[in-house]
Amino acid sequence: MKADLVYEGKAKKVYQAEGRPGELVLSYKNDATAFNGKKKESFEGKGELNNSISTLIFQKLHKSGIETHFIEKLNDTEQLVVQTEIIPLEVVVRNIASGSIAKRLGIEEKTIFEKPIIEFYYKDDALGDPLINDEHALYVTTITEAEISEVKQKALQINHQLLELFQSIGITLVDFKLEFGRKACGDIVLADEISPDTCRLWDRATGEKLDKDVFRQGNGDLIEVYNEILQRLEAKA
Ligand code: C5P
Repeated sequence: MKADLVYEGKAKKVYQAEGRPGELVLSYKNDATAFNGKKKESFEGKGELNNSISTLIFQKLHKSGIETHFIEKLNDTEQLVVQTEIIPLEVVVRNIASGSIAKRLGIEEKTIFEKPIIEFYYKDDALGDPLINDEHALYVTTITEAEISEVKQKALQINHQLLELFQSIGITLVDFKLEFGRKACGDIVLADEISPDTCRLWDRATGEKLDKDVFRQGNGDLIEVYNEILQRLEAKA
C-alpha cells in the first residue's frame, strides 16, 4: 500500500498511499524522543501500541461526530489517512497543571484549571517549538482568524470526549497535544495522532504516570504503561 516516502518525523514516517490519490500511510516508529530530540531511545513494540491506541481514540472521536484524517488501521504499525497539509501549530489543551506550564508560570503541579487552557506552539524544531499567541499564529501559518476560533472550539470538543473516555477507564487526562491539517477542499480536520506520546495520563487510583513522562523522567517502563492504556481502551471498546 506504501509508495514514496513523503516525510519522516520523530515518531512516524508518512508515505503516499499506492494507487490512492489524496491518501497517506502513517507508519508508527518505535523511537521515543524528548527535550526537542536531545533524548532518544527505541522501544520494541511502541509503534504497534501507539498505532492501536490512536486508532481506538480516533474511532471514538468519529462516533462522537468529530471529523479527523483517520480512515482505517492497515496493519500492526500502519494507518491509512486522508492527505492534509499540516498546519505547523501544536495545540495543547490543559486540564491540570503539569510539565512546561507549571515551570513557566510557577503553578503548582496538579493544580486543577477551572476552565481548560488552550495554548499554541509553533511547530519548528530549529526554534524549539516556541509558545506563541493567536497573532503570531496568523503571521507564521496560513491559518485565518475564523479558523483559529474553529480550532479552539474543536480542541475543546475533543477534550470533552477524551475526558469522558479516559475517566471511564480510570484515567485522569491531564493535558494533550493536537495537530490539525488542511484537506484539499480547504477544510481543517484533526490530524496526526493521539497516544501516550502526546497526552499526560495519570491513573486515577494511584496517580501513576501512564504516558511518555516515564521516558522523559526515566522512572518507569514505557512499554508496560503504554500497554496498560491499550488494554484498558480495548476492554472498553
Ligand atoms: O511539555 P508540555 O507540558 O508543554 O506538554 C504538554 C502536552 O503536550 C503533554 O501531554 C505533552 O506530551 C504534549 N506534547 C507533545 N509534543 C510536543 C510537546 C508537547 O505531544 N512537541
